[in-house]
Amino acid sequence: MEKGRVNRKSQRAQRGENGKRGEKEKGKGKILRVDVEALSKKYPIFIGELPKIELKGKVAVITNPKVGGLHLSYLLQRLKGDEVYIVTLPDGEEYKNWESIQYGLDRLFDHKLDRNSTLIAFGGGVIGDMTGFLASIFLRGIKFIQIPTTLLAMVDSSVGGKTGINNRFGKNLVGSFYQPEVVYIDTHFLQTLPPREFRAGMAEIIKMAVMFDRDFFEKIERGSISIEEAIKRAVELKAWVVSEDEKERGVRSVLNYGHTFGHVIENLTNYRKYLHGEAVAMGIAMANRLAEKMGLLTREEGERIENLLRREGLPTYFPVEDPEEFYSHFFLDKKASQNRLKFILPDGIGKFKIVENPPKGVVIETLEEFPKGAKG
Ligand SMILES: NC(=O)c1ccc[n+]([C@@H]2O[C@H](COP(=O)([O-])OP(=O)(O)OC[C@H]3O[C@@H](n4cnc5c(N)ncnc54)[C@H](O)[C@@H]3O)[C@@H](O)[C@H]2O)c1
Ligand SMILES: [Zn+2]
Repeated sequence: MEKGRVNRKSQRAQRGENGKRGEKEKGKGKILRVDVEALSKKYPIFIGELPKIELKGKVAVITNPKVGGLHLSYLLQRLKGDEVYIVTLPDGEEYKNWESIQYGLDRLFDHKLDRNSTLIAFGGGVIGDMTGFLASIFLRGIKFIQIPTTLLAMVDSSVGGKTGINNRFGKNLVGSFYQPEVVYIDTHFLQTLPPREFRAGMAEIIKMAVMFDRDFFEKIERGSISIEEAIKRAVELKAWVVSEDEKERGVRSVLNYGHTFGHVIENLTNYRKYLHGEAVAMGIAMANRLAEKMGLLTREEGERIENLLRREGLPTYFPVEDPEEFYSHFFLDKKASQNRLKFILPDGIGKFKIVENPPKGVVIETLEEFPKGAKG
């Protein structure tokens, strides 16, 4: 599989390899800023080398053994608080649950954190979602800071204030909307991120570009954008969406392009076979076919999107065993309220359309375009 250009370029730049060294050095010290203006809170997102962070009161860094092992010293060199505690939660989506929250709360009480204390989410989306949730319920809410360490967390989960955990009824069904004080995005952490996780984050970046910004899409396509700039643009777009619709009553649902199909793929494969971003990439290919049938997208445009996903190392073909079974799974999704089906579809590249309850026959025909055994 060919590696994506944004990926290659950034990784060379990070390693300071031939020719790219200048680029890295030029970018060094430069901090990009995006402001989130949600109804409940306004806060900045900084993209660039992690600055010195000085906090009053006690601080608890919430992390997991992997991220802590790799990067805690980098963070602690830059962090000052009256007392700094480290709370380590187990690594993995399966631990994004009540037990971890309970354990985390116990540690916060052990260390006698109070209303003036601050939590720092230091990890991927799992740690970010749980830390935000902890911050929102501990003593009815204390301050927290997001320092995301995966690409997905940088462009998606750390922005917008959705927090929460999973339970046996489904994913992210318990939680709160709770915004951080500030988000620090430092691409230094991406050096140790497994390439597959990096690519999963790229799926969300491409999703934002297709929905909202054709020029951004074309820059990624041409490879003429650095990873920092791509993160900034994705964050800007998400920040704009969140400012318009913090609690997902309208335009925020547009972030679900590729997700209605993708969630079914994750469900059918028991959340084991694919990373979320991979399922989204395959879901995007399906949404594109549906958009074509609804007269919103040409096959050429669909191919451009899918080619870009493939070039970034993402899968675009999920073999559908049984279209009827796949269809029935749409209604297990918590976002399909009261048997109403909502698809977010591209209206060309750079614009979206929300399509509710398309005729079942059209959706089944779409799924039939992904027969088992055809590709893979
Ligand atoms: N709140 C939101 O708006 C929102 C949006 C999208 C996704 N999410 C949630 O985010 C979660 C997925 O986040 P994710 O993809 O970051 O997964 P993750 O947090 O599980 O991280 C993936 C893996 O990478 C490891 N890791 C993290 N940073 C690393 C680094 N710098 N180097 C090496 N390894 C590193 C993690 O320990 C983990 O093993 C899901 O629970 C999802 O529900 C939330
Ligand atoms: Zn997603």
